[in-house]
Parts: sequence; structure tokens; C-alpha cells
Amino acid sequence: MRALFLKLLLIITLCSSCPLLLWIFSSPSTFNSLSKAKHSGPDKPDSCKDCKESAFIKKAVADYDPKWRKQEANLKKFRASLNSKCNGVSKAVVTQANTPLGSKITYDGEKRKPLQVSPALFSTFAKVQPFGNKTWDTCAVVGNGGILTNSSCGKMIDSASFVIRCNLPPVENGYVVDVGNKTGLVTANPSILLEKFSGLMERRRPFMESLRPFSASMLLLPAFSYGHNTPLSLRAVYTLEDFGGGPKPIFLNPEYLTCLARYWHAQGLRSMRLSTGLMVTSLALELCNNVHLYGFWPFDRHPFGQQVPLTNHYYDNRQSKKNVHSMPAEFEHLLRLHKQGVLHLHLGKCVPSKT
Ligand SMILES: *[C@@H]1O[C@H](CO)[C@@H](O)[C@H](O)[C@H]1NC(C)=O
Ligand SMILES: *[C@@H]1O[C@H](CO)[C@@H](O)[C@H](O)[C@H]1NC(C)=O
Ligand SMILES: *[C@@H]1O[C@H](CO)[C@@H](O)[C@H](O)[C@H]1NC(C)=O
Repeated sequence: MRALFLKLLLIITLCSSCPLLLWIFSSPSTFNSLSKAKHSGPDKPDSCKDCKESAFIKKAVADYDPKWRKQEANLKKFRASLNSKCNGVSKAVVTQANTPLGSKITYDGEKRKPLQVSPALFSTFAKVQPFGNKTWDTCAVVGNGGILTNSSCGKMIDSASFVIRCNLPPVENGYVVDVGNKTGLVTANPSILLEKFSGLMERRRPFMESLRPFSASMLLLPAFSYGHNTPLSLRAVYTLEDFGGGPKPIFLNPEYLTCLARYWHAQGLRSMRLSTGLMVTSLALELCNNVHLYGFWPFDRHPFGQQVPLTNHYYDNRQSKKNVHSMPAEFEHLLRLHKQGVLHLHLGKCVPSKT
């Protein structure tokens, strides 16, 4: 009963995975300006779901320039503003340095119930920020969108110096060609721990086995977004400790997430919660000289005319239940940054890179 309740709560309140998971077509506001152009006749809202989407896709494709050129000045400016406001380099992860023993942690999704840092909790924090002082040359941020299917982007993704993935996606066997398998950082949302691994209350070996492709990475857990995330994330940490040899668990800092939400809100993004994809993209923009995005495309129609409908994720077609994120609205911002030469959004197939 309690487990069910928690599960429900999580599904409702948390972003249950990386971008593209949630379609917000039922929420007209997310289409705002883009959809208005096509909004002519007295269409019923239902029958216009498709036309809104079509208009959005048409506009997105028209706006998307596949011949991308980096604009160093724009990137520097964007990075500087993110860094001065939110400072992901030292704040994105909870550390013993930024979250002292005895201090209070405020959950970003549940601000009224702060948590005092006990010695036991403190001992699970990273000692210092885990990203070091250097800037990576190239980072690939992999959203899990169905657009990656048949993309042949694996090699290009793996050629990045640092690869960020979301929500423990499959990277083995048939998927490698399209998504690669190199990973420096992977996120794990509580919902996946609950749904796939019984909240780590039962056998924990399947969890460890699923982490095998990520054994050299960091595992980023949103331990302090909601109160019930904390014990769950701690069980993940203890499981890793007990079995040994897995990825290095680190906790997302709720202060950083609150700051990011404010940052994107000021940029005009109105959504209940940022998706994990946008969170890690923001982080990558601070940590890397070149940011490449793959698997970010929030529609089931391929942008370049491919007929087969895309699945929600490259590995399944699960839809989420609740409109907590606004993927098309987030996507508009990513498209804008692509246009400004700040990051390179890859849509469509990857051409094998010259060696
Ligand atoms: C980063 O550099 C600062 C000052 O240059 C130093 O104090 C700090 O220890 C360094 N941190 C890491 C993680 O190397
Ligand atoms: C991917 O390629 C396979 C084999 O050519 C094809 O059957 C499938 O429909 C394609 N899927 C998508 C989404 O393009
Ligand atoms: C990625 O795949 C290659 C080739 O199959 C393999 O040698 C390598 O160990 C894999 N890397 C990871 C991190 O799983």
C-alpha cells in the first residue's frame, strides 16, 4: 500500500526520465506562439492536437540548420551567465564541502520539509565536487528519444570526451550502433529504482547487473528533490557499497536545481519541473567546450520525412502519465541555443566522422 502510494507520488511528481518522455500535447500553453499561427478555424481542441504538432514540427524543421557553426562568443556568454548564477561546477553535486555536517538541506520539490545533515548522511556525500577543474573538450548529452533509432550515432557519441546519459538506459547489443556505450555520467530517477528494482527492498543483484555498463561512470541520483527520494537513493548507495565495483554515486544538489529552474524560467521557460535532460545539458554547458545533444526530439514524427512513427524512447514506447515537464517548450530553447551556436543539436542520422 505504502509502496504503491510512493510509486504514484513519484510518477506524478517526478520527472520520470530524460526528455522526450512526456508529451504535453494536452497542454496548449506549451505550444504558445508556435501553434497560434495555424490555429485558425473553429477546431475542437481534440482535432487540433495534430495540427498543433504539425505546425510545431514544421517550424522546428525550418528553424533547424544541420550545418551548425559554433559561436564561441555566444557559448562563452551563456556559460558565464549559468556559471555566475548557478555555478554547477561546484554546486551541481552535494559535497562535504558545499553541504556541511549539521546544515539543512531544502528539497527542491518539497521546500517545507528540510533535512538536517546527520553524520551518517554526511558520510555518503562526495568529498569534493567530482568534475575536477578541467573543462572537457567535447561532451555528448544523450537524451533517450526514439529519434536515435537507426541513427548510427553511436560512434560519434562515443567520440566525445565525456558522455552523459539519462535514467540508466540500455547501451548494449543492438543499441550500441545508434547510441554508443561510453558513459561518464548517468542519472537514475527514483521511479526507475522503484519500477525496475522494487525500490531496492528485494533482491539487489539485478540492479548491480544493470549497472555493469556504467561501472566506470558517476551515478547521479536526485536524492533531495522529494523526501521519499532520500531513503531510496541511500539504498542505491548502500547497495553499491555492499557489492563494490559499480559506478560512483553522487547526489544532485537541490539548491542547484532550484537555481536552474529560476534560470530557465527567466529565459521564458514555463514548466513545472525541468526534465533531467535539460538539467544535465545545463551542467554540460558549464563543464564542456563543445556540447553535442543526441536523442532530443519530442515528437513521434521524424523531422526528416521518415515514415515509421518514432517510439517514445529508443528502447521502448512507454509514455508517461503526467504532464510535469514541457518537452516541446524545452525543445524550443534547445533549438534556440543550436541556432546561436551554443550547442549542437543532432537530429537525423549521423554521418560517420572522418578519422
Ligand atoms: C580546483 O582549483 C582550486 C584552485 O585553483 C583548488 O583549490 C581546488 O582544490 C581544485 N579542485 C580540484 C577538484 O582539483
Ligand atoms: C529502423 O530500421 C529497421 C530496419 O531497417 C526498420 O525495420 C525500422 O522500421 C526502422 N525504425 C525506425 C523508427 O526508423
Ligand atoms: C563498449 O563496447 C565495446 C565493444 O563492444 C566494448 O569493448 C567495451 O567494453 C564497451 N564499453 C563499455 C563501457 O561497456
